[in-house]
Amino acid sequence: MRGFNRGGPKFLIVTALLIVLSIEQKVSSARQGRQFQRQQDSNTPMSLLREDGDGEFTGQRIPRVVREVYQAKFTALNAARDNTVFNVLDYGAKGDGATDDTKAFEAAWIDTCKVEASTMMIPSGSVFLVKPISFSGPNCQPNIVFQVDGKIIAPTNAKAWGSGLLQWLEFKKLKGITVRGKGIIDGQGSVWWKKSPTYELTEDNKLTSNSTKLASDNSSLPDSVSTEAVRKLPHTKPTALRFYGSSGVTVTGITIQNSQQTHLKFDDCTVVQVFGITVSSPGDSPNTDGIHLQNSQNVLIHNSNLACGDDCISIQTGCSSIFIRDVICGPGHGISIGSLGKDNTRACVSNITVRDVKMHDTLNGVRIKTWQGGSGSVQGVMFANIQVSEVERPIIIDQFYCDGKKCSNHTSAVGISAVSFQNITGTYTKSPVHFACSDTMPCTGVTLTSIELTAKQEIEPFCWQTYGKLETETIPPVNCLKAGNKPNYDQC
Ligand SMILES: *[C@@H]1O[C@H](CO)[C@@H](O)[C@H](O)[C@H]1NC(C)=O
Ligand SMILES: *[C@@H]1O[C@H](CO)[C@@H](O)[C@H](O)[C@H]1NC(C)=O
Ligand SMILES: *[C@@H]1O[C@H](CO)[C@@H](O)[C@H](O)[C@H]1NC(C)=O
Ligand SMILES: *[C@@H]1O[C@H](CO)[C@@H](O)[C@H](O)[C@H]1NC(C)=O
Ligand SMILES: *[C@@H]1O[C@H](CO)[C@@H](O)[C@H](O)[C@H]1NC(C)=O
Repeated sequence: MRGFNRGGPKFLIVTALLIVLSIEQKVSSARQGRQFQRQQDSNTPMSLLREDGDGEFTGQRIPRVVREVYQAKFTALNAARDNTVFNVLDYGAKGDGATDDTKAFEAAWIDTCKVEASTMMIPSGSVFLVKPISFSGPNCQPNIVFQVDGKIIAPTNAKAWGSGLLQWLEFKKLKGITVRGKGIIDGQGSVWWKKSPTYELTEDNKLTSNSTKLASDNSSLPDSVSTEAVRKLPHTKPTALRFYGSSGVTVTGITIQNSQQTHLKFDDCTVVQVFGITVSSPGDSPNTDGIHLQNSQNVLIHNSNLACGDDCISIQTGCSSIFIRDVICGPGHGISIGSLGKDNTRACVSNITVRDVKMHDTLNGVRIKTWQGGSGSVQGVMFANIQVSEVERPIIIDQFYCDGKKCSNHTSAVGISAVSFQNITGTYTKSPVHFACSDTMPCTGVTLTSIELTAKQEIEPFCWQTYGKLETETIPPVNCLKAGNKPNYDQC
């Protein structure tokens, strides 16, 4: 353990992270070379929990609640091995990719909902056209499996979307819901991407490089999309797959592609595991986040491949105990906490671990972004073992986030403290390290360890009002951190 011997609760988090890192570094160097293989093999939810369950998991222990929920869930599913299966084909679904199969899905769900640990089957070999639908729970039995082996596609005609919906496929107020299989959920979003009035305005897109061109050059839009059809679509773009108010959620195996907007979203959920999934959309599809987390706790995301047109993973207010590991990101905008504190709101985010991530062809690497005028805090963040390749800005903290419109200056800010960046290596194109912190609420406890970022044309690291320290030498040298720690404010 080096540094942070000044005591105080906020430093304990950093202390814990450092201890764990040193343990994990020993373990991983002992396993040298075999690490990636091992992680590929550990692709079952229980093996992941067993492996790390009694030790430290990415800087914090896997909370007991996660293990308990999963143990209960898998016990239930095992008990129901010859469980009841409700196949949508038995409810009149055609699966021809053209007939509207929504009613069959609704009918199958009504029966599935009544039987604990039963399976609703979307079989392989068929393509199901399904309109916006909610698999809604409060009165459903727990531990239902939604088995997607076929393909589910979204309608592209404006009529199906009314005046605008937040999501296409929704799972709501369920306990122990699992969505799994080798199938595909396809938002057929290209018609929506063309209609993106806010797109050109965002800060991210002003930074867009040649490798992620603006959608306005029509590059991923089919010629068949008529301007008229696009004009009729509502302004609000749906998330393809959204979970709301649920606990013990698992999403595994499936591919989610070409979402209208965010691919997979968790809102107000606890104990979530996502693994072995693929997100796939073009790098120039606007606002197509991979996974979006909001007001959710105890979330594990691992062994997944995320390619999209916005953040691969975005962590919003109300999130804590989030573990992300073994993720491949790109194209996309990287992995972000925020943006937080928009319109003077209060935001609280804590205990976030992002590690063993490969990023290629992304705008940013790992980033925390907050608006001026917010309140609350981001505390206890570890970004470790991040490999970047030709990433514009691998390391960013920005307390002046602005979406390109006029943003007025405020003194208050979402405070940022105890953030460590460890073993972040590779190549960048625009800026290796960019820390822009608030004058009134500087960032504190920012640590850099084993940073090695190179570029054809080197750029100086930038820090503004950033307190912290280097645990090792860095490439390039970072000489702009302020020594010491400002006391922190507004604990959440
Ligand atoms: C970006 O594209 C423009 C025009 O297509 C080209 O002139 C320029 O060299 C490109 N820049 C990079 C960095 O590739
Ligand atoms: C994009 O599409 C519009 C309308 O379909 C067309 O007029 C324009 O030339 C296209 N732009 C490019 C760069 O292909
Ligand atoms: C964050 O982690 C710290 C240290 O492990 C713990 O004391 C705290 O309760 C956690 N906070 C939340 C909101 O889970
Ligand atoms: C640093 O991260 C890379 C992946 O980006 C990993 O292969 C390597 O083992 C890590 N090094 C240490 C010392 O943890
Ligand atoms: C906000 O503050 C910055 C830096 O002091 C200044 O350059 C900018 O003009 C200010 N913006 C507004 C809208 O007052």
